[in-house]
Amino acid sequence: MIKPVENIVWHSPTVESLKRESQKNQKAACLWFTGLSGSGKSTIANEVEKRLFENGNHTYLLDGDNIRHGLNKDLGFSEVDRVENIRRIGEVSKLFVDSGLIVLTAFISPFIKDRQMVRALLDNKQFIEIFVDSDLESCEKRDPKGLYKKARAGEIKNFTGLDSPYEPPQNPELVITNSDGNSLDKNVEMIISYLINNKYIVKL
Ligand code: ADX
Repeated sequence: MIKPVENIVWHSPTVESLKRESQKNQKAACLWFTGLSGSGKSTIANEVEKRLFENGNHTYLLDGDNIRHGLNKDLGFSEVDRVENIRRIGEVSKLFVDSGLIVLTAFISPFIKDRQMVRALLDNKQFIEIFVDSDLESCEKRDPKGLYKKARAGEIKNFTGLDSPYEPPQNPELVITNSDGNSLDKNVEMIISYLINNKYIVKL
């Protein structure tokens, strides 16, 4: 059987990645938000992107629910499909990072080894793992899409945190505690400060 990469030759582009990021006056990276459904990944990622945009940075947000309407609409929530979901997003993120952008991704991405796989695709310092740490009880109380209720009623199978596992990061770059009472502004500020302190962006 012919392997897909046989007879394919890699082309090196004339405009290199480093030139693209320096043109944009930023260090390209992937801010990888992981956490339970309803933990606040999308809300925080959206707000961080807004702040970066206002600061003149070049960004793109990949969100689980949206990507599953297009690129990954053939995938469900079995373990095999979730692995493929993250593999594709990892590859797409790598392309966006190569284009010089700061990419923000908001996927449950429940498995440690898949997140490690994405980290390994990128260069050192290009993968910033952000654990949005919200306990199941708070997520279920929020239930912004009514999905926990459906899962509890047996209408959705393999729901993360209920009958499908979530493996928290062991050594993430950032932990955002997002149980009740923590303000969005404070969480966003923590991420922006990390990006400034580690020289990904310059505050205008
Ligand atoms: S992942 O596990 O493969 O990373 P992803 O982030 O793309 O998940 O999609 C999660 C979103 O799909 C959830 O926020 C929720 O809105 C919806 N969803 C539908 N079914 C499930 C399920 N069985 N488990 C988790 N999320 C589900």
